[in-house]
Amino acid sequence: MLQVKNVCKSYRSNKVLNDVSFQIQQGECLGLIGGSGSGKSTLAKLILGLDQSDRGQITLNGIDFQCLKGTELRKARRHVQVVFQDPTASLNPKLPVWKSVIESLENYPDVVPSFLKDVRNDKKQMAEILLEKVGLNKSLLERYPHQLSGGQRQRAAIARGISLQPSLLICDEPTSSLDVSIQAQILNLLKELREEFNMSYLFISHDMAAVRYICERMAVLKEGMLVDLFLSEDLFSKRRHPYTRRLVEAAAEN
Ligand SMILES: Nc1ncnc2c1ncn2[C@@H]1O[C@H](COP(=O)(O)OP(=O)(O)OP(=O)(O)O)[C@@H](O)[C@H]1O
Ligand SMILES: [Mg+2]
Repeated sequence: MLQVKNVCKSYRSNKVLNDVSFQIQQGECLGLIGGSGSGKSTLAKLILGLDQSDRGQITLNGIDFQCLKGTELRKARRHVQVVFQDPTASLNPKLPVWKSVIESLENYPDVVPSFLKDVRNDKKQMAEILLEKVGLNKSLLERYPHQLSGGQRQRAAIARGISLQPSLLICDEPTSSLDVSIQAQILNLLKELREEFNMSYLFISHDMAAVRYICERMAVLKEGMLVDLFLSEDLFSKRRHPYTRRLVEAAAEN
């Protein structure tokens, strides 16, 4: 489904990604871990088509975004959506929640997600269904982002992320801005949505337990290099890369 092949990226002389290759299957969740500055968000940016790699190839369902321009690129891009650490990044503070949640659907009028097919011409109804999918009450439709809790805001950002029924949802630290008690709820929501829509996830997180809980496989970035890639159940295996073991030990100390 997603194929990342020999990707390199530098910012000036700073080599941020060095020959990174991996794949994500349809419906699979791949966890991406690694220290701060190891290149995780940069990789997300390249997959989203927000920046170009210097070398290598990124294809989604066989299509290479870097070969596309204009409307073709726009059309392809809708299959990859993102949920950021900070939900305020994807919610417009000046808009009521319902408008933010359906903004992408307004930008892509031809896209008809299966779960919205009966209400595609009714904006409020679409927003209502999207809120319901993420466990938010429709009484919140008219609220502004600052009138929601952090957890509710992240749910709204997730609703926006799934609105076009993407094949791949990139979650970049989706729970790290949230209170610990809310983190598990958001993780469970992401898990349920993945099953419901058979989406693939690239799940970036510092939280090893969260990654192990939600992902089938894990990839480890160290200074821009992919040093380990394994089934989540093998996280504690002796075969792990020394750097992965260091991350596991550091997580255990916290
Ligand atoms: N637009 C940019 N211009 C120059 N350098 C950049 C740019 N974006 C990222 N970098 C650099 O690339 C490196 C990797 O950054 P990136 O944001 O991908 O790390 P990360 O693994 O997501 O870290 P964190 O866990 O802290 O979010 C860092 O050294 C960063 O300073
Ligand atoms: Mg990052």
